[in-house]
Amino acid sequence: MWTRRDFVRAMAAGGVAGALPFLSHGASVPDVDLRLVASLDRAPIFPGAETPILRFSGELIAGRPDALKPSPSFLGPTLDLRRGERIRVHFVNRLPEPSIVHWHGMLVPERADGHPRFAVPSGGTYTYDFVVRNPAGTYFYHPHPHGRTGFQVYYGLAGLITVREPFESGMGLPPEAFELPLVIQDRRVARDNSLAYAGGMMDAMNGMLGDTMLVNGLANAAFPVSPRAYRLRVLNASNARIYKLAWSDGAPITVVGTDGGFLSAAEGVQTRAYVTLAPSERVEIVEDFSRRRPGVEIALVSLPFSSGGGMMGGMMGRGMMGGGGQSDELLLARFAVRREPPVKGDPVRLPAAGERAAGAGVTAYTELGFARMQGFLNGRTFAIDAVAPDERLRVGQPVVWTFANPPAGMMAMPHPMHIHGVQFRILERSGSRFAGRDLAEGIVSVGRKDSFLILPGEQVRVAFTPSEAGLFLYHCHNLEHEDGGMMRNVLFEA
Ligand code: C2O
Ligand code: CU
Ligand code: CU
Repeated sequence: MWTRRDFVRAMAAGGVAGALPFLSHGASVPDVDLRLVASLDRAPIFPGAETPILRFSGELIAGRPDALKPSPSFLGPTLDLRRGERIRVHFVNRLPEPSIVHWHGMLVPERADGHPRFAVPSGGTYTYDFVVRNPAGTYFYHPHPHGRTGFQVYYGLAGLITVREPFESGMGLPPEAFELPLVIQDRRVARDNSLAYAGGMMDAMNGMLGDTMLVNGLANAAFPVSPRAYRLRVLNASNARIYKLAWSDGAPITVVGTDGGFLSAAEGVQTRAYVTLAPSERVEIVEDFSRRRPGVEIALVSLPFSSGGGMMGGMMGRGMMGGGGQSDELLLARFAVRREPPVKGDPVRLPAAGERAAGAGVTAYTELGFARMQGFLNGRTFAIDAVAPDERLRVGQPVVWTFANPPAGMMAMPHPMHIHGVQFRILERSGSRFAGRDLAEGIVSVGRKDSFLILPGEQVRVAFTPSEAGLFLYHCHNLEHEDGGMMRNVLFEA
């Protein structure tokens, strides 16, 4: 267990305890000042032996005391932030290898984005300083050292970020006491309760898939709920698994937000039979459990799907390697509706449309590729500071960026693409003639997005205007693909 004494000792050993951060940074005091330590630990996840894990532990140094909310498990604490606040984070790397933290979906300055070129060695520290510019929504943080992101996330380094704004209380949403984050991950569990991170050929190709589900870091997750409306903040924090989320009783799913916050009134609440959620995507769901009989138990499941060709959906797709196939049916979490008088939920009033996707600007084009167990972007793989001429964009200039996933035979597979430093709109999806039509029907393409799934044979066009100058990243968020080099820099020039 990570005690306060260990903490002090570890900090003293690292030689960072002496420097009072607010003295070394001039007069301006952040609203939230915290320390985030990554270290080796163990956690009771399954009955029997404890599981070796990596853990983010947080400690508030100064500022709003409820900004840091402990997680119910080995996952990192939730950073509960308010738009406009200034945040300072002192990251302390107590891992035996380099690391750096990225705030996924957050619009932060280049220096605070956790690019792998900022990775600090074992024992090192890194100070982040940023203002919360994002709208109210659900974001997350995770390590980003090149080649080791998949490993470090898999063993437990991830945590939620919630951003709040005052207008949320006027939307008819369930109050904060009836918010339930659902951080969904799959793991491969060995007989001794350790987590297996294989790294064989199939794992490099498909990404790391597991057959044991964890929700909020808990195995066999079960949540007692009241017969009333809940706000579910769902994050797919899995390395590689795509979910086709559905309620076990066939009730539709009501989506009010995506990666970058609420849908607009014009876009409207999205109701789907199921929701496709790729790695790093978020959806906010309002579920009115008063629709269910008190005493009943329902489950959030992932439905089986036709994952689309090649190694993914074909013969290898199902259980030939450990950890199950990409398209397997899975039970994620159970919800037992308490025997209480039901409370009918309010209709949700979404905010008026915000900024629109700007019109004509420059265009960019990226073709995905996958060969020899490795992903490519326009035929290139990641190099720490390489930027090609077609990877330079201007701050303030609208861009329409087309991504194309060729239907390349055996290697055809869906890829969850992600761009750092921006929130974009999806202008158009071509759809796929080849596969995954059922997945396509569950994809929610409205709202502000920072990640999207692209099916084999599909083209997706996204629009945004860079606002932060500097070197950022775009990559496949299948973390094994990312670590394998399916990532590139994009330079936003001032
Ligand atoms: Cu979750 Cu490079 O990001
Ligand atoms: Cu990111
Ligand atoms: Cu990929």
